Amino acid sequence: MLEKIESAVKDFNAEINNVNSTETLEDIRVKFLGRKGLFAQLFEEFKALPKEEKPKYGQLLNKEKNNASAKFDEVKDEIESKSVSYDSYVDLTLPGVKRKIGNKHILIQTLDEIKVFFKGLGFAIYDGPELESDYNNFEALNFPEDHPARDMQDTFFVNDNFLLRTHTSPTQIRLMKTTKPPIRAIMPGKVYRNEAISAKSYCLFHQVEGLYIDTDVSFAELKSTLVSFAQYLFGADVKYRFRPSFFPFTEPSAEVDIWWEPKGKPGRWLEILGCGMVDPNVLDNVGIDSEKYVGYAFGMGVERMALRKYNIPDIRLFFDNDNRFLEQF
Ligand code: DAH
Repeated sequence: MLEKIESAVKDFNAEINNVNSTETLEDIRVKFLGRKGLFAQLFEEFKALPKEEKPKYGQLLNKEKNNASAKFDEVKDEIESKSVSYDSYVDLTLPGVKRKIGNKHILIQTLDEIKVFFKGLGFAIYDGPELESDYNNFEALNFPEDHPARDMQDTFFVNDNFLLRTHTSPTQIRLMKTTKPPIRAIMPGKVYRNEAISAKSYCLFHQVEGLYIDTDVSFAELKSTLVSFAQYLFGADVKYRFRPSFFPFTEPSAEVDIWWEPKGKPGRWLEILGCGMVDPNVLDNVGIDSEKYVGYAFGMGVERMALRKYNIPDIRLFFDNDNRFLEQF
């Protein structure tokens, strides 16, 4: 009997110490500790022992069975805490999941191209806030009190004194107030207009403002800079025209159109920017001596540039965030 018990214990230990999965663990339980397992059989045999041998083997058998059960529970806990469920199982041999990575929005790409051109000419880049004072957005720029652009129809007023800037020109004011001439900078950013949304206009768009102030700046320089720019962005054969225009903050003023032939539609002129020589009143408003300094300024629409450059039929496409559109660029 002793031998049998010892051999059962030895076999049990050998198997339990080699177990590595919950399935073999269950086999071991059935084989040794189950209702018909080895220990149960030994208890059966124990019943047939002579009376005087019973206490000794009874105690031994009980002790070894309890030890085996305790050991079994311990190993079971250990395996279960380590085992990996199929949910978190990673098959490293499978091909990876392709994730869509973002790319630069077409407007940002266009803006980057614009920056590269003007940086090459020595223009700095300057930022202004989208929430502006009525003073910077209109008054300092020489807008008469009753100018229609101040109308609630066009401007998102936040309160009597503050608004969402309707153009990037107020950033010129900020720059001139804080910097001594010579000044040469572009000022990109978002602008807001309270307009009906259509294929051609949106309540939000991007502009790049340009400003050059020095003692001897001429309209001819302004013109050659803008022509070089149009040729850089749209190709050397771009067709353009300068049209006389009016802005309160420039005198004389002009607008630049470029020729556009959208696919399947008749060609037309597309206005891309306004420009002119900075009005002396504006220089006076920011404390720059208008007897000594002159300057030119321009403000261009980034969406307009992108429409023309990539032949996009509708301005709203820029803002829909539709990947099928955006990933083409
Ligand atoms: N701010 C004008 C607009 O949004 C564009 C403009 C015109 C800007 C002439 C200028 C400029 O700096 O000189 O319509």
